[in-house]
Amino acid sequence: VRTSMSFPDQLLKLAVEVAEEAARLIVERRRGQITVADTKSTITDVVTAVDRESEELIRARVLAARPDDSFLGEEGDDVNGTSGVRWVVDPIDGTVNYLYDLPTYAVSIAVEVDGETVAGVVVDAPKGEVFTATKGGGAFVDGKPIRVSGETELAKALVGTGFGYDPARRQVQAEVVQQLITKVRDIRRIGVGAIDLCYVACGRLDVVYERGLNPWDYGAGALIAAEAGAAVGGLNGAPVSPEMSIAATPALFDPFHDLIAAANPLRA
Ligand code: IPD
Ligand code: CA
Ligand code: CA
Ligand code: CA
Repeated sequence: VRTSMSFPDQLLKLAVEVAEEAARLIVERRRGQITVADTKSTITDVVTAVDRESEELIRARVLAARPDDSFLGEEGDDVNGTSGVRWVVDPIDGTVNYLYDLPTYAVSIAVEVDGETVAGVVVDAPKGEVFTATKGGGAFVDGKPIRVSGETELAKALVGTGFGYDPARRQVQAEVVQQLITKVRDIRRIGVGAIDLCYVACGRLDVVYERGLNPWDYGAGALIAAEAGAAVGGLNGAPVSPEMSIAATPALFDPFHDLIAAANPLRA
């Protein structure tokens, strides 16, 4: 079949198909009983059978279509392929919301070529919203272009964040929030790292930051935010990494960065 689609667009098309199928699966399973199958790093770090089922589905679909690709999923699948393409997958982002039937959780799929993320999709499963981006191709929700807010003042910024599962780190994260809370409009803890980034992309939040996100949490969302015009990075000029991810309107990135850097967020 002749196609005029670029390679990132072809990868995105498959990513969207598979993410939407996984999103339908997890919403359908939510109609039954959801229980904790296991705890991981700590008692607060839970996994359900549906996290695993969703990842299995995504891995099977992706590798059936592209058998030579690599695949990294949160729930343990790490397949090393030969094509230079790697799929980085969170099968349910927001497992605690999912467990409690809070209606925000997502499927997140990033696709890397030679280590660079070129396509990403985040599907808000209960809402059916689909955020997408390709490198250099802009960001979209349900096919419509999105843009960050124009906010320039920290005092008017709505800021999203999240907390990891390690108690010592949580303590520090709480202390950082204590520093911020009087300096910004308000803080949101939505519970879904990928959605936080997409919300900056479409102007529903002005800034998000979190210590301890993993590549499957930020892979797709960081591309979507950047393509929507956000400034995206870590501390002191570093790129986004598990150490720190910040996405903000261009005017807010530096002042916000300096505010949290001063709170010494890497103490634990
Ligand atoms: C978690 C969510 C949460 C963030 C945590 C993540 P999971 O992912 O993204 O918002 O604060 O750091 O681990 O475990 O629900 O996929
Ligand atoms: Ca998890
Ligand atoms: Ca996650
Ligand atoms: Ca997850």
